[in-house]
Amino acid sequence: MFSTTSQLKARFDKAFTAAFGESASGTDPMLTAASNPNFGDFQCNAAMSLGKKLGKSPRIIAQTIIDNLDIADICETPEIAGPGFINLKLKPAYLEAEVRAIAIDPRLGISEIEAPQRIAIDFSSPNIAKEMHVGHLRSTIIGDAIARILEFLGHDVIRINHIGDWGTQFGMLIAYLREVHPEALTTADALDLGDLVAFYRQAKQRFDADETFKETARQEVVKLQAGAEDTRRAWKLLCDQSRREFQVIYNLLDIKLTERGESFYNPLLPAVVEDLTNLGLLVESDGAKCVFVDGFTNKEGEPLPLIVQKTDGGYNYATTDLAAIRYRIKEDGAKRIIYVTDSGQANHFAQVFAVARKANWIPEDVEIVHVPFGLVCGEDGKRLKTRSGDAVRLQDLLDEAIVRTRADLEKRLAAEERQETEEFIANVSQVVGLSAVKYADLSQNRASNYVFSYDKMLALQGNTAPYMLYAYVRVQGIRRKGGIDFDNLDAGAKVILESDAELVLAKHLLQLNEVISSVDGDLLPNRICQYLFELSQKFNQFFEQCPVLKAEEPLRSSRLVLCDLTARTLKLGLELLGIQVLERM
Ligand code: ARG
Repeated sequence: MFSTTSQLKARFDKAFTAAFGESASGTDPMLTAASNPNFGDFQCNAAMSLGKKLGKSPRIIAQTIIDNLDIADICETPEIAGPGFINLKLKPAYLEAEVRAIAIDPRLGISEIEAPQRIAIDFSSPNIAKEMHVGHLRSTIIGDAIARILEFLGHDVIRINHIGDWGTQFGMLIAYLREVHPEALTTADALDLGDLVAFYRQAKQRFDADETFKETARQEVVKLQAGAEDTRRAWKLLCDQSRREFQVIYNLLDIKLTERGESFYNPLLPAVVEDLTNLGLLVESDGAKCVFVDGFTNKEGEPLPLIVQKTDGGYNYATTDLAAIRYRIKEDGAKRIIYVTDSGQANHFAQVFAVARKANWIPEDVEIVHVPFGLVCGEDGKRLKTRSGDAVRLQDLLDEAIVRTRADLEKRLAAEERQETEEFIANVSQVVGLSAVKYADLSQNRASNYVFSYDKMLALQGNTAPYMLYAYVRVQGIRRKGGIDFDNLDAGAKVILESDAELVLAKHLLQLNEVISSVDGDLLPNRICQYLFELSQKFNQFFEQCPVLKAEEPLRSSRLVLCDLTARTLKLGLELLGIQVLERM
């Protein structure tokens, strides 16, 4: 379905051609939302620039455009204002027909993309044996939302978990495992190592304190790379343990990912260096093999190399990312590759992309983007930490959100003298608590830091998940109270927009298509949050001003359609953010 702006654009294009000839076709009508709602809904600002180009007064140009504009089925008669703005006011009859059309469409008027792409999204990507921290949480939540939105638009998305499962730290971990759990390397059973992060810390202490241990650790790295059986087994044990821990979080947050960790690319690394050598791009610097690309300098302003093979012959994070780019383009056939990490890695990606471009590994029809995000801060504005100064465990953070939601809920139930089952309380607490965490993250422009505050994210008022969920629940309340079968209602009812609140709500409902489609371009899910927030506000105003169940027919059915369409829009929008709705709360 076409959005209102795209319909208007098409009409303007016809008018430009009719008024100024073929050469004017394709002129941008410069449509914007009306600067003052009293003047209408949209304004066209093109007459000023056209006037300059054609050497005529913009007001005369504006009049010529209007004379050639066939728009009576969409808008009231356009009016010229100021130097030559053309003000447009949508006709209620047009809005009524459009609202009805999306109400009977299961996709709510959102068109599937004309040219779907295969898109690889690299997100979450925690590191084995290390804490999955709030940065990974952001990557997980934002990456999943972007994936859901692009999938809904019809793209073919591969969700890749680029887990850090390789590197010299494994030498130390394996050597330590051999000391404390020698049996683990030979028996067939899986071993539960308990808290891997504590294990990592102990191994590191041992490593830092003992030179012989250090040497053993180094040898384990060599054995791991050579594929020695017991060393590989130890490595796999460590990975499996971490995986189980990550999976708990993914299950809780309903995240689907395909694991393709760094180790996956090991066999492909020598060819990366070889090809760079053959292209003449490789430079030896202090024994390391590097590539220099223009525009990258260190703090001293000297050219900054991208190291792809270290002095000891080992490959690194960058080599792996170069191999991954080649694989995703060649084997996966990705036409867009999206990396969701904190903005601290912006330079790494810029440099890796630049090297891949220089090597001609990125065809012209492939787009490769880093989607950076800011820090999660505590209420003190600094990086989020526990009271004791440690990194916050994700499991604890999510549990706390659920516990606090439950306390709020129980208080509310007591105040309302409502009896609910334990199952209801547990479910509502979990859904609302986790939604609140996700929503608080997604509702910020991802590029900025945000302050993690349970009080704010769990508030029933404001741009929060509970506020959105309430608006949805409100409609479900109406449905139950009136015994309404929305499916049948939507199919038959006429939409009548009489009051301001109805018109305002209808116009907002019609913008969903445009908002969701825009995320395809800028990958900013917060646009959807803002949209849903405004939708909830407009719905609540409508609901306060317009009786629904008590209204006379045919107004009653029309208002019920608005209620249901609002609820379905909220449900869809929240689903695209990875947030589940509730029928009651
Ligand atoms: N494991 C990395 C980290 O924790 C993130 C990996 C991002 N993806 C990539 N292809 N480099 O920082």
